[in-house]
Amino acid sequence: MNAPRLLRVAVFLLAAAPAAALALDFAAGALATPYRTILRETGLWSMRLLTLGLLLSPLARLAGSELLAAPRRMVGLFAAAYAFAHGWAWCRQYGYDWGFLLGELPRPYLLAGLVALLMLVPLVATSNAMARARLGAAWARLHRLAVPVAVLAALHFLLSRALPPRESLVHAVLLALALAERGLGAWRAKTRPSPRDGRIPPR
Ligand code: HEM
Repeated sequence: MNAPRLLRVAVFLLAAAPAAALALDFAAGALATPYRTILRETGLWSMRLLTLGLLLSPLARLAGSELLAAPRRMVGLFAAAYAFAHGWAWCRQYGYDWGFLLGELPRPYLLAGLVALLMLVPLVATSNAMARARLGAAWARLHRLAVPVAVLAALHFLLSRALPPRESLVHAVLLALALAERGLGAWRAKTRPSPRDGRIPPR
């Protein structure tokens, strides 16, 4: 098995493990507050994978190895699957009381989460190779949505409690670093003199 495939298999097993553990505990009746626990765990794992997904490219560039970027798609799909399960757990926790749930939605942290979740839909729908080939350059533009998704999800996490949980601050810092690396790369690409303009490139 080649290295990218091996990495993808490892990432698959690691990303699926929390879902499998949760499903086993749920089936065994081992969760005292099942939907609350599912809401919490799926939210946390979705957030972790969204942050990881945005860190993989900068890390690959820093390490000078494309290998690290290989599991990006899988990480994104797992992040989305956990996010959809999280949204479902919220509805289930309140017994699908749609009147109550709709009344809750205007709360800023829930709105941020909902917009992030909705933006994941076109990303998941176009994550396959056929959509990528069909959309051409538009695909890359569309998939830049992963940035606002992660930022909104981090905001949702930060605002979800009166005191921000420590992990939410870690995500905010990691996302800021990932975005700064991207911004710096774009700025460098813009300011780098083209080989045709006769200037000596800065050292
Ligand atoms: C990409 C989308 C989303 C991500 C990544 C996400 C992530 C998270 C995270 C990390 C937490 C904190 C878990 C904890 O420590 O307890 C959380 C809490 C929560 N989320 Fe989301 N979320 C998303 C979307 C949504 C949506 C669409 C809803 C419902 C409309 C929602 C409802 C909630 C609720 C009710 C809590 C619990 C707040 C509390 O009482 O502690 N989330 N979410």
